[in-house]
Amino acid sequence: MKIIKFDEIDSTNNYLKENFQQFDDFTVIAADRQTRGRGRLGKSFFSPESGIYFSLLIKDKEKLNYLDRFTIISAVAVFSELKAYTDKKLSIKWVNDIYIENKKLCGILTESRIQKDNEISYGIIGIGINLYNPEDGFPEDIKDKAGCLFDKKPDSFLKEKIVKAICERIYMLLFKYNEEYIDIYRENSYLDNKNIKLIENGNEQDVRALYIDKDCRLIIENEKGVKKALYFGDISIEI
Ligand code: BTN
Repeated sequence: MKIIKFDEIDSTNNYLKENFQQFDDFTVIAADRQTRGRGRLGKSFFSPESGIYFSLLIKDKEKLNYLDRFTIISAVAVFSELKAYTDKKLSIKWVNDIYIENKKLCGILTESRIQKDNEISYGIIGIGINLYNPEDGFPEDIKDKAGCLFDKKPDSFLKEKIVKAICERIYMLLFKYNEEYIDIYRENSYLDNKNIKLIENGNEQDVRALYIDKDCRLIIENEKGVKKALYFGDISIEI
């Protein structure tokens, strides 16, 4: 694993997308700040100095067979590593966020490129974590929703330590041929038994999130008692 560090970059995911050919499998691009950090569904990801932003490139064909599990595996890796740094409750909000108590601590954006012959050329796992409160605070639209791991700025060596530990754990989980990580994902689900707003293709619906099933789908129930299993996709959830 090689970690390449930038002080500032537009987006670590973008950088890997543009330069994937020159890097080996499991290269990590990390940055102190992003000027155009991206989230899921075309949203931006606020990325000041007070967070950690990194992306991992996966090119190995065997690992790419698990592309649809990259987000789940990464969420479990982030959750498991960060737990040691706080007494506050961490949980995993299906499908790609880590929460600290009732606030978002981390977002994960997995992207890939499929060639014309349907081969996957790469997978990129992008992870952004709020470490401490930004100097000028969080922007208005996320200030009530964003949470941080620490109350104040930690020693600077911690950033690198956390990035390395998370990436190593992802690597290990990708190679482990057991599915224990699914149990961790399910047992630490934030959404279980919460009323949520489901936004699918612009349509909003109030439903109840029940649990995460063994295939990591979110099982929901609507007002009429009809259950449905949700699988990733262009779905956004508000609580
Ligand atoms: C989300 O919350 O929707 C996902 C956020 C993912 C943010 C990370 S930060 C590192 C990498 N670079 C980006 O531009 N995005 C991801």
